[in-house]
Amino acid sequence: MLDFKYMVSTKIFFGRNSIEYLGEELKRYGTRILFVYGQGSIKKTGLYDSVTDIFMKNNIIFHELSGVQPNPRISHVRQGIKLCREHDIECIVAVGGGSVIDSAKTIAAGFYHDGDPWDLFVIGDSSIKKALPLGTILTFAGTGSEMNGNAVITNEETVEKLAIHHDALRPRFSILDPTYTFSVPKNQTAAGTVDIFSHILEQYFSPTTDAFVQNRMAESLLKTCIEYGPLVLAEPANYEARAQLMWTSSLALNGILGYGRLSDWATHGIEHAVSAVYDVTHGVGLAILTPYWMQYVFDEETKGKFVEYARNVWGIKGTNEDVVAKKGMEKTREFFSCLGMPKTLREVGIKENALESMAVKTVLHGAVGKFKKLEKHDVLTILKNAF
Ligand code: NZQ
Ligand code: ZN
Repeated sequence: MLDFKYMVSTKIFFGRNSIEYLGEELKRYGTRILFVYGQGSIKKTGLYDSVTDIFMKNNIIFHELSGVQPNPRISHVRQGIKLCREHDIECIVAVGGGSVIDSAKTIAAGFYHDGDPWDLFVIGDSSIKKALPLGTILTFAGTGSEMNGNAVITNEETVEKLAIHHDALRPRFSILDPTYTFSVPKNQTAAGTVDIFSHILEQYFSPTTDAFVQNRMAESLLKTCIEYGPLVLAEPANYEARAQLMWTSSLALNGILGYGRLSDWATHGIEHAVSAVYDVTHGVGLAILTPYWMQYVFDEETKGKFVEYARNVWGIKGTNEDVVAKKGMEKTREFFSCLGMPKTLREVGIKENALESMAVKTVLHGAVGKFKKLEKHDVLTILKNAF
């Protein structure tokens, strides 16, 4: 176990009708609010009306920033910061999935930054000193952004997608009502499930061998995705299945699995380079890349971890460790297929001549991966194999 500082500070209101806590919570942070949301799903589901009713009943003055798109853009974040400064905003409310929440976090930190908000991503986490308070209402289970201090933003001018992390970015509160995810379309639900699964794997495949409690927690969360992912696709309005996935999404990336050990994050590094260039859905990119990453990093040194994964997560029996490990990888591939995920980059429209620049972008700030360090040529081989 490595040393760590524990900080998971977001207050969670989980369950049906937990939006009733919104008015009371907002009173702690002020009456002038920026309301950030996406491209319209909350208007179709009626959530927009519920939120604005609560604002009005609580005498909250709100300004709207709508239109956040998946793989959110820095130019849109700049508009949000401008609105916050013009209207002397005291608090931000984000209603949506990871893209909406990540935009809101970047606006919250950018508000206090003298230069351009993209500086935060280039200079890195040390450039963040404070952020406006943020509350979220989650409509999509996947990123865990509702309970963590991460934000991932695309710069459309430089064609980069980068992440920042700071505890000041953790939402002060998040409202998690699983019924809000009933309307997420099947392909997006599947992509969110893969994203959750991948967050757990990135921390499970760790070079820190002394992490018994973290490993057993991770295995439980992986099994929850395996149990409820297919069920939620078959029954989109199954409350228990949606609830299990929603809470797993938060636990998978609120820090609890990663404290006390190193985490890998190579597959995410590669996927961010892919979706920066091709605007691929994050979870779809991960579903394609993860099996090829596994195949590439599997060797005598890493075999033990793959055997542990195959036995404890997939229940694979047998004494031949190579066979057991490979069956675990095969099960992973089958799981993503049963969720309807594509298997190759070619299938999502990526051209072979883009792979080189994706590999360059992945390692622009250094080699990726702690479980297995990957340089540019390693990343390029994984991308070519996945093509
Ligand atoms: O824009 P609207 O109309 O709301 O539609 C969204 C969007 O098209 C739709 N949607 C969301 N809730 C819905 C719904 N449709 C119907 N009913 C609902 N209840 O779903 C689409 C995808 O939404 P998005 O927010 O983009 O999905 P997700 O939560 O997967 O976020 C992906 C982004 O987060 C980043 C990814 O890279 C990507 O940019 N990540 C953020 C992380 C973090 N902050 O910790 C970690 C992740 O690894 C990831 O990198
Ligand atoms: Zn992710």
